[in-house]
Amino acid sequence: MQLTVNGSEVDVDDRHAKTPLLWVLRDVLGMHGTKFGCGIGYCAACTVLIDGRNTKSCQTAAQRAVGKSIVTVEGAAGPVVDAVRDAWYRGNVVQCGYCQPGQTLAAISLLESNPAPDNAQIAMWMNGNLCRCGTYPRIKEAINVAAQTLASGVPPAPLAARPEPDVPPLSAEELKDPVKPYIQIKPDGTVLVFSSQLEMGQGAHTGLATIVAEELDADFDSIQVVNAANGATPNGDVYGNLVGGGFQITGGSNSTRAFWARYRQVAAQARARLVAAASETWGVPPAEVDVDSGVLSHSSGKRAQFADLAAVAETMPVPDGLQPKERTAYRVIGAEGRLRVDTAAKILGKTQFTIDIRLPGMLTAIVLHPPRFGASVASVDDRAALAEPGVRAVIAIEEGVAVVAETFADAQRGLQALQVEWNDERAERRSSDGLLNEHHRLVESGERAVVARADGNVDDGLAHAAHAIDVFYELPYLAHAPMEPNNAVCRMNADGILEVWAGTESPVYTQMTGARIAGVEQDRVRVHVPDAGGSFGLHYSTGANDPASEALQIAKALEWRYPIKVQSSREEEFKSGRFRAMAVHRVRAGVNKDGELTAYNHQLAAEPTSPNLPFVGDFLFKDNVDFMTVTGLVDNPYTFENFKVEATNVNAGVPIMVWRSVGNSHTEFARESALDELAVAAHRDPVDLRRALLANNSRTLRALELAAERAGWGSSLPEGRARGIACTNYLSSSAQVVEVSIDSRGRIHVDRIVFAVDCGIVLNPDLVRAQVEGGILWGLGAAAWGEVVLGDGGNILTQNFDRYPVMRMQSIPSIEVHLIESTEPPSGVGEVSVPTVAPALANAMFALTGTRIRRLPMSRTIQIF
Ligand code: FES
Ligand code: FES
Repeated sequence: MQLTVNGSEVDVDDRHAKTPLLWVLRDVLGMHGTKFGCGIGYCAACTVLIDGRNTKSCQTAAQRAVGKSIVTVEGAAGPVVDAVRDAWYRGNVVQCGYCQPGQTLAAISLLESNPAPDNAQIAMWMNGNLCRCGTYPRIKEAINVAAQTLASGVPPAPLAARPEPDVPPLSAEELKDPVKPYIQIKPDGTVLVFSSQLEMGQGAHTGLATIVAEELDADFDSIQVVNAANGATPNGDVYGNLVGGGFQITGGSNSTRAFWARYRQVAAQARARLVAAASETWGVPPAEVDVDSGVLSHSSGKRAQFADLAAVAETMPVPDGLQPKERTAYRVIGAEGRLRVDTAAKILGKTQFTIDIRLPGMLTAIVLHPPRFGASVASVDDRAALAEPGVRAVIAIEEGVAVVAETFADAQRGLQALQVEWNDERAERRSSDGLLNEHHRLVESGERAVVARADGNVDDGLAHAAHAIDVFYELPYLAHAPMEPNNAVCRMNADGILEVWAGTESPVYTQMTGARIAGVEQDRVRVHVPDAGGSFGLHYSTGANDPASEALQIAKALEWRYPIKVQSSREEEFKSGRFRAMAVHRVRAGVNKDGELTAYNHQLAAEPTSPNLPFVGDFLFKDNVDFMTVTGLVDNPYTFENFKVEATNVNAGVPIMVWRSVGNSHTEFARESALDELAVAAHRDPVDLRRALLANNSRTLRALELAAERAGWGSSLPEGRARGIACTNYLSSSAQVVEVSIDSRGRIHVDRIVFAVDCGIVLNPDLVRAQVEGGILWGLGAAAWGEVVLGDGGNILTQNFDRYPVMRMQSIPSIEVHLIESTEPPSGVGEVSVPTVAPALANAMFALTGTRIRRLPMSRTIQIF
């Protein structure tokens, strides 16, 4: 069979004729720009152009493309391509980047057929292309910009990306140096920054580049950032996250908060070394050496680039007690118009994600997981699977049964032929409804409830209430479903070094898992951390239900003869679980005749999250209270005189994991909805009620007032429209107003969201706006449609995007983000907008329809369009 790919004829073995073109491109031809997201035609990550038309390559048998022109992200070229890519680049569209090759090809196809689409046409055309990072508003804008560029007749130059640097592991000597593990200046002038923090779309690399550029006085464009490979240092000496337990971990939106001081200090030290090198080389006092945009100079006319003096600088002592710059001297931090550092490579499909790792002799495995959580393998009939071409082995491991093959498509065919009987002795057999009933029972009975916080006397306060509420809120299991499905790669080298590749938020966990399974010392395990195609909390590599653990077990069973990649299908990722916990909340609260709060009692039941995280669990799970369950309640922004939080840890067999905004994703839905209900009961304006409760929290109060003001709170709206509000102090101080409308068919539209945030000093305003937009669309999709369903007998029914609807372009509202000026240190923004979307929407829904939605997703109650 012969295919024409990017203008070249390529021969492909006929045995792949019926294989989806996606896997022929990726696994047979080694072209990794085309991505896998779902395999069922629901995400379009796999988009290619066939005879100019955007086509889902996972749904196209390779033989159907014979005789046609196939264009992938690697080969796309021409004025439309350049216009689209330039608009994407300058519009800071990209976050994790995994979906973007597909997005840009779809946009190119649109503009080739319709050079001037309107917004409705753009939304309709692009609706099939999922982006879990929520870049839709920027994609829409970028297509408009590209259309204008094309109309101007002056297409931009082709986008180029610097190659990813080949970074050898740091030596023990380098790791001891105060600067080298973080910043190295290369002979070509590149300032290489080693990021302790995984880049998974949140912009951590750009944030750290901004800090370094500022304090080093480097040229921002000379900075290249890499994930700190081999940086698993459990003692935290080098890359340890002091906000997250002291070891290397990315999470809690604390990349900037945790590393702001350290990278400022290290960059200042690197600068001081360069100044000392110039001083010594030129024979001038250090105080007379100027540094600006990567150039050192002296009034005598002497000048040098950083690279010229880097070798001498490395020999200079590192001064102590360097003071970071005053805020008034900032020229990079806070500047508008700075682009992300990782964008070009992602647009061009050149960023190497874990799915793209290809090693000599590597085999690919898919693990078949049980259809019910907790079930185990009873028996395996692998004869039919092993008879499939390309299948090399079938191996039972802790998590299920692995089919190991030459390509993903071979493994998938083997998986379909596999016969497995499951042992349900320890399986979770309850359905979602059954589990919800159990959560209710626990809340209502108070069984095993633990008091997480108690102030004043809630019983007394309730007794004196003029108006009271006693209401339940119910929230489902939620999946992360990042665009890059679960995966990991491992290889045992001849020298006994075990290498693992995983886009993990916690390389230390991966290292521990590798050491445990391989039976080697932890320092013999080298963890490489490629960028992740999203994570949202999923990729903590905890050792249970984790692809790294699976790859290691398989490689070990094959006596380490082959490098092994485990690549989950989307179905198997869902069947691995690790969901946001289901939760049931009960709020009993009251107000007096003046509408002032007299008592607030919050009870809830949920499976705990923290115990699933080694190290962190030790300090986040104490006295049977899981902080990740009660966060948003015990640390809420308000002053409640009589206040009590009681929580019950639910015993259920569904694997639970951190999910973007952790417990706040459910606690704040209940809290902010309940406050709205109290305001209604007291005939009081919801902003006014919150304002009184925020008297001791000036930053959240300011955010509330700004969001309300910019949204026009209090002004009248046309018939059929309404607003709702919610606020939080989660990570930063913020508030949002959601505006909804109802159409003639009774469908609800979310039209506009106004968001205000005080996140301290802003490193890059557009990066903050992008994270807020993405978080809003993430939370909105979950609130509207998100639900993982277990059916009768505990069968996992939700296994792909066909049954797990997420936000698409057609449903996005307009989003306005207002940043509050602040001199406080930077705080987190990656999750900040998630918790308040659902309650603000529910509150708007009540204002619009009089229906109070207390169960998510809302699509159970109303039709959201
Ligand atoms: S549509 Fe092809 S991978 Fe999702
Ligand atoms: S940028 Fe689209 S999925 Fe991350």
